[in-house]
Amino acid sequence: VLKLSDASMSLLKKRFSEEVASLRAANLYRHREGIDDATLNFASNDYLSLTKEPAVQQIYQRAFARFPCGSGASSLGFAYHANHRALECAFAEALGVDDALLFSSGYAANLSVAHLLKRFQLQALIDKAVHASIYDGLQGNAVPLTRYLHNDLEDLQLKTQSLARDKATILITEAVFSMSGQCAPLAQIHVHTAQHVEGMVVDEAHAFGILGREGLGAVMQQGLSMQAVPLRVIPLGKACAAAGAVVAGDGLWIDALLQCARPYIYSTAISPAMAYGLLEILNLLREADARRAKLQALVEYFRQAVAQSPLTWRDSRSPIQQLQLATAERALDYAQYLRQQGIVVLATRQPTVSKKETGLRVVLNYHHEPDDIDFLFQCLAVR
Ligand SMILES: Cc1ncc(COP(=O)(O)O)c(C=O)c1O
Repeated sequence: VLKLSDASMSLLKKRFSEEVASLRAANLYRHREGIDDATLNFASNDYLSLTKEPAVQQIYQRAFARFPCGSGASSLGFAYHANHRALECAFAEALGVDDALLFSSGYAANLSVAHLLKRFQLQALIDKAVHASIYDGLQGNAVPLTRYLHNDLEDLQLKTQSLARDKATILITEAVFSMSGQCAPLAQIHVHTAQHVEGMVVDEAHAFGILGREGLGAVMQQGLSMQAVPLRVIPLGKACAAAGAVVAGDGLWIDALLQCARPYIYSTAISPAMAYGLLEILNLLREADARRAKLQALVEYFRQAVAQSPLTWRDSRSPIQQLQLATAERALDYAQYLRQQGIVVLATRQPTVSKKETGLRVVLNYHHEPDDIDFLFQCLAVR
């Protein structure tokens, strides 16, 4: 049996502590923190403020009273509950697509999409700013990868021409980008690439619940067919106020995905009680037009404040707003100062964002009021 000697163990510990110390010195150290209810929270993706909604809490009370709290195994290991199927069917029906597959997280769903690309020897064409889970999946599976500049149709056209001709291409983008809040011009992307790509995979994490008829997302809002977008990824931890993810789309694609999605095959299925809760929450979310209207009004109010602000804000029409502060030190300083004023925002730093985008990510939720936005800008103005 090979055993690490005490000397090599302490050498390893020394390396760990040096790495942590160098991250601290560069203002890139990460730590966890919770917040209390008195804090003004601009860091949550609970866009429609459903996580604490009494109606939602009652739904879960009923769900957990009736159904198992845990599934006990993976879906392919006999833990595929009727509630899982019902939720998949409800999403497929709402979106007008063939089928859907329920994952334990958006991260697992995006990794699985990469497994599909690997299995079928496809190449990926991606927006440079897509989420880490998409990068991790593609790079971890050594899927050939071409990146185009964020939302840049000209660069996209150039890059489509440089694609290897011996492999079919899948284009992957987010619908609303998690860090910049900018919306992808999905319909234009489709028009520009239809000749060159086999299909688009769209991550609707920050669009589902907010955009489109009944909040059913950007693919629907931009009128794209299932043929154009054979798979869309819908993480359920944002507007859906839960956890997990649904991948919805073309039946054959979903079936192929099921065959090779290692994060699905080798992972415990989500709780049947939670799946039941989500089934009811999907209906509630579809009926939440009044919440979406208020959220959109808050976005407009925020944009007016941005127009008066001397700071550098990214142009965003979504609830995600990005303040660019250039250095991690300034980002942490602003976040800490706001925290002292009772406001929570996320300082975004490398490697999550580029150096240029280093700053604050401010997220609007339904429960915010214009006064909250005024207070945030007042605090920013005196920093
Ligand atoms: C665009 C995007 N995709 C996927 C994920 C991952 O989803 P989950 O948190 O359910 O793992 C996130 C979450 O941060 C995200 O922002």
